[in-house]
Amino acid sequence: MVSEHAAAQVLVASNRGPVTYALEDNGELTAKRGGGGLVSGLSAIGDSDGSDPAALWVCAALGEGDREAVRRGVGEPGVRMLDIDAGSHEGVHADAYNGIANSVLWFVHHMLYQTPLEPAFGPEFRAQWASYETYNRAFAEALAESAAQGAAVLVQDYHLALVPGMLRELRPDLRIGHFSHTPWAPVDYFRMLPDDVAEQLLRGILGADRAAFLTGRWADAFTECCVAVLGGTSGTRIGVHGLGADADFLRERSRRADVEERLVALREQVGSGRRVIVRVDRTELSKNIVRGLRAYRELLASWPEWRERVVHVAFAYPSRQDLAVYRDYTAEVQRVADEINSEYGVEGWTPVVLHVKDDFARSLAAYRLADVALVNPIRDGMNLVAKEVPVVSDEGCVLVLSREAGAYEELGEDALVVNPYDVTGTAAALHAALAMPVEERAERTKRLAAAATALPPAQWFLDQLRALEG
Ligand code: F6P
Repeated sequence: MVSEHAAAQVLVASNRGPVTYALEDNGELTAKRGGGGLVSGLSAIGDSDGSDPAALWVCAALGEGDREAVRRGVGEPGVRMLDIDAGSHEGVHADAYNGIANSVLWFVHHMLYQTPLEPAFGPEFRAQWASYETYNRAFAEALAESAAQGAAVLVQDYHLALVPGMLRELRPDLRIGHFSHTPWAPVDYFRMLPDDVAEQLLRGILGADRAAFLTGRWADAFTECCVAVLGGTSGTRIGVHGLGADADFLRERSRRADVEERLVALREQVGSGRRVIVRVDRTELSKNIVRGLRAYRELLASWPEWRERVVHVAFAYPSRQDLAVYRDYTAEVQRVADEINSEYGVEGWTPVVLHVKDDFARSLAAYRLADVALVNPIRDGMNLVAKEVPVVSDEGCVLVLSREAGAYEELGEDALVVNPYDVTGTAAALHAALAMPVEERAERTKRLAAAATALPPAQWFLDQLRALEG
């Protein structure tokens, strides 16, 4: 039944929303708006802040500040934040987000399990799975309550795989889309999940009218899983929308004073006349930062002519630090960077400059400065860094790109492509990238930037809406 308050014609649902609140020492709440593809996508159907009352973004309260904002009724127009843990549900969000989404589903879709990181599907998993269901149901109920008759609902990502099916039962009148921002696991790997869980996940997404992915490869893998586990996709349409970089935003943002300031500081840190290999990632295992550092070490060992002539600027921003496996990985990144610096560093030359504090303006400065960008994930839904660097780069930049990143489908021809497990191959690609003539590098960068911006976020979002209407 449609509630009398249901007003939104277009709804987006995701775990992380466009705004977060911090609870200050004086008891005040301060809001911080985030960026990213969805934020600019939603602005295409509302005002510049996405606040068209016909559009609603449903997201989870992620920390104490967010929860306090919900309790006080503080919020932004066009955003509905859910305190999943309210009432008798304490700990449900952590179970669903840390336990299931980022310890199990993330590992399955990125194929990260390997001894001793083994899947554990015992009683703890079952308890967390129950929380994942509760968390998904909270979203489905909120969406059902807020959606106008026949509204379009775009559900995002692996956190909310059960929502389309649950919402379909509550509101058969809605047009529902699901979008996966991650890769999808190959069928044999996916079937590592307990059978009932695998079935529930697939049936959950198939509750949507349309399930969409970043590349054809992930869409095909999903279809294969549906065929193997359920016998088919039961009429759900499968789509592909390869999210691109937002050229206008990036070009304008990367010329602002705060970026210029950081550029000066970075240049000083690197030292004059030196080449720069840049990488920017959230620190988590699929990004393959440690193998990237090992490849850089091998570059210095095998091509000693680069010693003192190159610096690896690595920004590794901590992510999901509630989980030991992510914390350990962050520590490993730091350890290997330190090792390289003590092995090869000399007075006046630090081979690796590692920054772990998230700073978007400094990332843009590094993009501008980069001679080479290293993007070597084990698997990645798309990887927007690969698309952003060529747009922002001052003098052209060679992209060393993993063939396992979704971005490879669009950028593979003009990048130097690597197998992410092959450290020696990656070292050779870094050498080739550093040695590439400037004219060739500039030509490639131009073509990379054109391919990277072919589907800007607003277009990406509107295409999905239109496809849902079709
Ligand atoms: O890649 C999948 C994804 O959900 C992205 O959409 C997002 O950038 C990232 O993971 C965020 O992860 P988290 O919310 O855990 O920091």
